[in-house]
Amino acid sequence: MKCRKCGGQAVLELRRHNTAFCAPDYLEFFRKQVHETIRRFRMFKKEEPVLVAVSGGKDSLALWHVLLEDGYAATGLYLDLGIFDYSKESKAKCEAFAGARGARLLIVSVKDELGGAVPAIKEATRRPPCSGCGLSKRYLMNKAALDHGFPVVATGHNLDDEAATLFGSIVHWQTEALPRQSPVLPSTHPKLVRRVKPLFRLTERETAAYAFLRRIDYIVEECPFAKGATSLLYKDILNRLEDASPGAKHNFFYGFLERGRPAFERSEGIELNECARCGQVTTGAICAFCKLADQVKRSR
Ligand code: AMP
Ligand code: FES
Ligand code: ZN
Repeated sequence: MKCRKCGGQAVLELRRHNTAFCAPDYLEFFRKQVHETIRRFRMFKKEEPVLVAVSGGKDSLALWHVLLEDGYAATGLYLDLGIFDYSKESKAKCEAFAGARGARLLIVSVKDELGGAVPAIKEATRRPPCSGCGLSKRYLMNKAALDHGFPVVATGHNLDDEAATLFGSIVHWQTEALPRQSPVLPSTHPKLVRRVKPLFRLTERETAAYAFLRRIDYIVEECPFAKGATSLLYKDILNRLEDASPGAKHNFFYGFLERGRPAFERSEGIELNECARCGQVTTGAICAFCKLADQVKRSR
C-alpha cells in the first residue's frame, strides 16, 4: 500500500476517503482536518483563548496537541471525577502531557464542587452515575471557563462519539436532544460559553493513529462505569455498518447536520434564567447541578 501523497510506504489506510498515507503525510492530513473544521465552523480564532477539556484519553490529548502545535492559546482543563484509580491515572497523564510541553492545565475536583465525587452520585441516585457525571462535566466546564475568562470550551468528541449519540437519540426518538447535537453550540446567554468539537470529522481510529504516531501517552482504559453502556453498543453497531459500507458513519452524521437537524430546531428560544443558588444558567429556578448536590448531601 502506497501513500497517496508521496508514493512512499503507507502506514494507514482510510477506506472512507479511499486513500492511504505514510506517517508524516497522515499527521499533516489530521492537522489540516482539525484546522479546517475550526475555520469552516467558525469555532474560535487563533488569538482567542480556548479551554480544552482533557480527560487523559487519546481524543482530547490529540486535540490539545494539535492546538498547541498550531500556536493556539490552548489551556487544558481536567475534571477530577474521583473515580478511583481511573481518575488518578488519567489525571497523571494530563499533568505529564502539560508538564512536558510547558502548557497550562487547570484542575477542578468534582468532589470539592459537588460535595461528593462520581461514586457518591451513584450512591445518592442508586443508578449508574453516567448522566449525573455528564451533567457535572458540562456544568463545571462552563463554570471553569467563566471563572478564568475563556469564551470557548473545546472537547475531544470524535465522529464515532457523535454518530453514537445521534443513533441513541434516534432509537429513542429523543427529539428534544436533536437540536442540541451540533459541532458548535453558540453562547446564548452571557453566562454560557460557546462549546465546540473540533474533532467531530475524525474517527476514533484516526485520533488513535494520531496519538500513536505522535507518541502521546494517554489512558487506554475506559471509565469503569462505562462497561456495558449502550453508547458502546451503538458504536459497535455503527462500526459494523462502516465495515460493510465505508463512509456510512460519516453520511449518517453529516446527513443529520445538513438535512435532519434543521427540521428539529425550535423557532422560539428557550428561556434561560440564573440559578437562584449558584447563578449559573438554567431553564428552571434551581439548576440540575445544585439539585444533584442536594441529593448527594442528603445521602451522606
Ligand atoms: P466522554 O464523555 O468521556 O466521551 O468524553 C468526551 C469529551 O469530554 C472528552 O474528549 C473530553 O474533551 C471531555 N472530558 C471527558 N472527561 C473529562 C474530564 N474528566 N475532564 C475534562 N474533560 C473531560
Ligand atoms: Fe462519568 Fe464514567 S461515569 S466518565
Ligand atoms: Zn445552581
